Order: sequence, then structure tokens, then C-alpha cells
Amino acid sequence: MAAPELSHPLPSTRKRLTPAHRWWWKFQRISGVVLVVLLFAHLFYNLVLGDGVNQIDFAFVAGKWAAPLWKWWAFALLVLAMLHGMNGMSYLVGDYARSQRTRRFLNALLGAATAVIVVLGTLVIFTFDPCPQGADASLLPSFCAEVGK
Ligand code: HEM
Repeated sequence: MAAPELSHPLPSTRKRLTPAHRWWWKFQRISGVVLVVLLFAHLFYNLVLGDGVNQIDFAFVAGKWAAPLWKWWAFALLVLAMLHGMNGMSYLVGDYARSQRTRRFLNALLGAATAVIVVLGTLVIFTFDPCPQGADASLLPSFCAEVGK
């Protein structure tokens, strides 16, 4: 079966660029560059160093997030990747949605999905308990035994 044809982007109906549009244009370029650094360090640490993908389990994540640097690293990756993806999708909506109503609806959906994922992801990072009570000790990082939890 042939792939569906994608129609050409619609000509712009925007009358003028607001300061917010300019801000997002710059944000998209700067966050793109920052994301390359954040993501490759993330992948290098998780996949190349040590045992690679085999090392990833609960204790690995707990050990990593015991260091504030990696917590903030994950947070920066989460927020920038979500905002970059949201804004990029919103450019597509602007290019292809035919009516103002559809554009508004899709952009609202994008904003809501982004907000939910950023809030849930942030909660995971900052409320994460590395030594949950009653868990099998062999699955926990070694420092849980040291602090007697
Ligand atoms: C094979 C590729 C990948 C592996 C094995 C992997 C693995 C992991 C692991 C083990 C964690 C938890 C500990 C940590 O912060 O490192 C994590 C968290 C995270 N990863 Fe990745 N990752 C991969 C690709 C990506 C990509 C492509 C992105 C974004 C574009 C990403 C974004 C994130 C974010 C935002 C978090 C924090 C999660 C949260 O908010 O709860 N990862 N990843």
C-alpha cells in the first residue's frame, strides 16, 4: 500500500510576529544545541560506561539519582526535550492545520500533554525513594544497608 501523500504546508496567515514568537524561535535553536549535549552524556553514561545497558536496574537509577548533578541533569533533559518537542509540533500544527479552531485545539492538547508529562516526570525525579521500606535488599543500592534503612 502506498504511503499517503502529505499536502504542502499552507501559506502563512500570520499578520505579524509577536515577541513571544521570536522568543520561541530562539528557544528552539538554543535548546536544540543544549539537548545534544544533555542527551549524549545521558546515553554515554547509561549505555557505554560500565556494563552498558545490562547495568540498568533499580539500584543503578537509585545510585545515579543520589547525586544532585544527575537529578538536575534528568530534570533539564525532561523540561527541554518536552518544550522543544511541543514547540516543534506546534510549528507543524501551524503549517498544516486548516482552521484557527483546529490550530487552537491541537495546540491546547499539546500544551496539556506537555504539562502532564513535565509534572509527572519532575515528581518521579524529586520524590524518588532509593531505599523503599520492605523491598528486597538485593535489589537496592548498597548505601541503603549502610544507612540501616
Ligand atoms: C537507549 C536509550 C536510553 C536509555 C538506555 C535511557 C535510560 C535511562 C535511565 C536508566 C534513566 C533513569 C536514570 C537517569 O537519569 O539516567 C533515564 C531517565 C531519563 N531519560 Fe533516558 N534513556 C535513553 C534515551 C533517552 C532519550 C532519547 C531521552 C530524551 C530525548 C531520554 C530522556 C530521559 C529523561 C527526561 C529522564 C528522566 C526521567 C523522569 O523524568 O522520570 N532518555 N533514562
